[in-house]
Amino acid sequence: MTSTSRTIVLITGANQGIGYAAAEQLLKQNNYYILLGSRNAENGAKAAAELDPSGESVEPITIDVADDDSIQKAADHITSKYGRLDVLVNNAGINNELALYWKQLENEEETKPDLAALRQVYRDAYEVNLFGAAITTEAFTPLLEKAVMKPARIVFVSSHTGSIGLRTDPSSPFYEKMSQASFPVYRSSKTAMNMLTLHYAAKFKEQGWKVNASCPNLTKSAFSRFSDLGRSPAESAVNIVRLATLSEDGESGQYSDENGVVAW
Ligand SMILES: NC(=O)c1ccc[n+]([C@@H]2O[C@H](COP(=O)([O-])OP(=O)(O)OC[C@H]3O[C@@H](n4cnc5c(N)ncnc54)[C@H](OP(=O)(O)O)[C@@H]3O)[C@@H](O)[C@H]2O)c1
Repeated sequence: MTSTSRTIVLITGANQGIGYAAAEQLLKQNNYYILLGSRNAENGAKAAAELDPSGESVEPITIDVADDDSIQKAADHITSKYGRLDVLVNNAGINNELALYWKQLENEEETKPDLAALRQVYRDAYEVNLFGAAITTEAFTPLLEKAVMKPARIVFVSSHTGSIGLRTDPSSPFYEKMSQASFPVYRSSKTAMNMLTLHYAAKFKEQGWKVNASCPNLTKSAFSRFSDLGRSPAESAVNIVRLATLSEDGESGQYSDENGVVAW
């Protein structure tokens, strides 16, 4: 089976964790061809070879979503080799706030916060989690417009922690009083990503695209420093895969996990 007769999916940050697990599950569905995004070429090649030793169903694509040239190079490569994209999964993400949180705990007595360090943490998180997803979506829109395996689909990998609905609901586990552990940098970057989801869902409504956000839940991956409290990347990938494989009658403009709709 050639790539042209299959649904072509690009997953950013798929060399490990939830993105890798999503690629693995899509491959089991047989008619999917995976462009496995990785910011590090070597790690991408290794992950692609693990997933598909034959090389018939997975191609590693080097893409750093914090670097416009890298995004454009990836888009140009896919344009010249495949001429289209059917599904984009904006999965790449970072949680760089833990180190700052630990530092704050160590220096509780200090009254003056390190503003420059905090600004940098915000910049780095937003570069990947928000700007990266937005610019990648813009760069790949011309290819999604040429999708053959319709509907074209975009999945934003968000987080329950970005939900304002859950954050303000006292009965929700994501409701927290103001504390240092509230992780405002990461959470706000995902809240903003949710607005991107609604923006693109509205923008491509007429064309019938399915644009949705998924909440993985706490997962045992590099992102959470392999927290024992987290579940497996495979479990967290289930709803991402569902959204990446929606048919014409599937939803668009929704925020969900595997149990259903999540409050924005
Ligand atoms: N784990 C959780 O508890 C959890 C919960 C809710 C939501 N999420 C979200 O789920 C997504 C995947 O997380 P994960 O748990 O699978 O984490 P992970 O195992 O750390 O994987 C994150 C992936 O993103 C890549 N990445 C980081 N910066 C990048 C950049 N500038 N350009 C391209 N790729 C980049 C990483 O590349 P490297 O391998 O090179 O670092 C890695 O492949 C993230 O968006 C995260 O916010 C995770």
